[in-house]
Amino acid sequence: MASEKIGIYPGTFDPITNGHSDIIGRAARLLDKLVVGVAINPGKGPIFTIDERVELVREEINYLKNGLADRIEVRPFTGLLIDFAHEVDATVLIRGLRAVSDFDYEFQMASMNAKMAPDVETVCLMASDKYHFIASSLVKEIAKLGGDVTQFVSPRISERLAERLYG
Ligand code: COA
Repeated sequence: MASEKIGIYPGTFDPITNGHSDIIGRAARLLDKLVVGVAINPGKGPIFTIDERVELVREEINYLKNGLADRIEVRPFTGLLIDFAHEVDATVLIRGLRAVSDFDYEFQMASMNAKMAPDVETVCLMASDKYHFIASSLVKEIAKLGGDVTQFVSPRISERLAERLYG
């Protein structure tokens, strides 16, 4: 459909947290189709492989309510984000803003992406108050140190983290 409003939500998702799932569900409601782009991002030294991260994001999306999962696709990507946006015909780039500290980075990224691809509009969604403090790296650190991460990630992710770290 030519008039379909397609958005992308990019990230490393190592692993996907409740905060990411919240943004995914809310973004999907605003769009006809949402493509979650899982960045290969070897620089971040992910603990889950790209295939695992894609699989885990897909699994979480299946738990979204109100038929939202039907509108969401999950794909790995490498290279420039705007190239990926063009590849999937996206005109909206979704980012989640958690705190003021996210703003500088997001503003810079949105501005540079806008210069390179004026046809792709960055839309920032405010993280819900329940989730504004979550970061994947802190979740991994807590799990590595034997802490309980079940408030921050789904039971499925918590289990996979334990398996990866202690299995
Ligand atoms: N809830 C919970 N956590 C959230 C969140 C939310 N709503 N939004 C972001 N986060 C966390 C992530 O878990 C992550 O935590 P971590 O750094 O501790 O692992 C952190 O915030 C940042 O993650 P994210 O916003 O997903 O960014 P990223 O660094 O993982 O990915 C890309 C950034 C992939 C979008 C960016 O690197 C990119 O565009 N790469 C392609 C190359 C490119 O085009 N570069 C030019 C850009 S101008």
